[in-house]
This record gives sequence, structure tokens and C-alpha cells, in this order.
Amino acid sequence: MNNPDFYVKYTNKGSLNPELTEKYKSIIEKHISLEGKNVIDIGCGDGRLAMYLSEFVSNWNGIDISPDAIKVARENIKSLNLEDKVAFEIGSFLDIPFDKKFDIIISSNSLHFEDDKSGAFENINRFLNDEGYVIFFEPTPSAKGWRSNKLNEDSEEFDKNTFRRKVERLNKSYNSIKSQDLFELVDEYMPSSISNNEGRQYFAILRKVK
Ligand SMILES: C[S@@+](CC[C@H](N)C(=O)[O-])C[C@H]1O[C@@H](n2cnc3c(N)ncnc32)[C@H](O)[C@@H]1O
Repeated sequence: MNNPDFYVKYTNKGSLNPELTEKYKSIIEKHISLEGKNVIDIGCGDGRLAMYLSEFVSNWNGIDISPDAIKVARENIKSLNLEDKVAFEIGSFLDIPFDKKFDIIISSNSLHFEDDKSGAFENINRFLNDEGYVIFFEPTPSAKGWRSNKLNEDSEEFDKNTFRRKVERLNKSYNSIKSQDLFELVDEYMPSSISNNEGRQYFAILRKVK
């Protein structure tokens, strides 16, 4: 899944929902305070999470494999006057373009796109400070509520095989989080009633142990 043009349709300026700030903040701050932290967001898309959370941290970097997503993220941050604290670069789980380490690595709705999960975990570990935290949000399987109509069963474009592959990818993603041994799983949430709106996201919080 390395076609940047494919991903840009998942990013758009309309996705900002200020009510989500409190949700993300409370999930994260149950375990780690955001104050004073250096954060990197992998698969940042249009920079949505930076818009919700960067005001609480010391420094926010976002990276994405899609140059078009980074362009949109930069425009969004400029329009919100957050450029002092937030910066976006092209990069990926396997190519983190920095020579510094981070206190928190966050990734929302993106891990399931990366095929090389063990490479991703090794790289994340390398760029995380000792006892740093990793936070994954992922969608949960549902045949509605996706931006791509191929995944929405109420759409004429719904494609069973595309949906099946998405579910397989998501299951691989949850399993990779559970089965890796570089981090301790300190919190995890899988919604019991499956739906794909953002109140029903899976999340996992991991702490570096090696
Ligand atoms: C569904 S969007 C999520 C965007 C944003 N994190 C959010 O929650 O709104 C997935 C993003 O992951 C990016 N992506 C896909 N594969 C990636 C990889 N291997 N490394 C970094 N980013 C990747 C895509 O370009 C896309 O912007």
C-alpha cells in the first residue's frame, strides 16, 4: 500500500471536530500527561490530531507517506497559526525523518496500512525515549461510515472483497499490537458494539520496556 495518491482521499479539511479534543486527551492523559511532551504523529493525514491536541504539548511533529496529505496538513496548521509548535514532514512508519527521540508516538487510523508491522514496531521503539508511550487508534470493522463508498454496504459502490480485505488488515493490526514484545500494553479498548464512527474507535496504549 505505497501509492500516495490513494491515501489523499482519506484527508480533507472538513474532518475537524473540536469535540474530539476532550475524548483523545482523556484517553491519553489517563496514563501520561501531554504537558511538556515532544510528540510525533505517524500517518498524520490532514493534521487532524495536531489541531485537537498540539496546544497541550511542547512540540508536535506529524509525518505521512503522502506528499499531498502533508501539503494539506501544512495549510491547515498555517490557517490555525500553529506553525510555532507544529511541523509536518513526508515520512512513514519505516522512515522517520528525524535525528531526535520523542516522548509520545501517536498514530490514528494508519497502522493497518503498513504491511511490515515488525519493522514499524522496531522503528517506533528506536525513536521513542526510555519509558515513552505509543498510542494507536484504529477503526473497527463496520460496513458503514467509511469515507470510501467501496466499504459502505448501503452504497452502490460497495465491494465485498474490498471490505473483507479491510477487515483482514484491521485484524492483523490489532493482533500485531498484542503480539509485539518491545512494549507493555498498558491499556486497550475494543468497542463491544461494532460501528465505525469515531466514538467507536479501537485504541491501545503501550509503554516502552526494551
Ligand atoms: C485514514 S488516514 C488517517 C489520517 C489521520 N491520522 C486521521 O486519523 O485523521 C491514513 C493515513 O495514513 C497514511 N499512511 C498510509 N500508510 C502509511 C505508512 N506506511 N506510513 C505513514 N503513513 C501512512 C496515509 O497517507 C493517510 O494519510
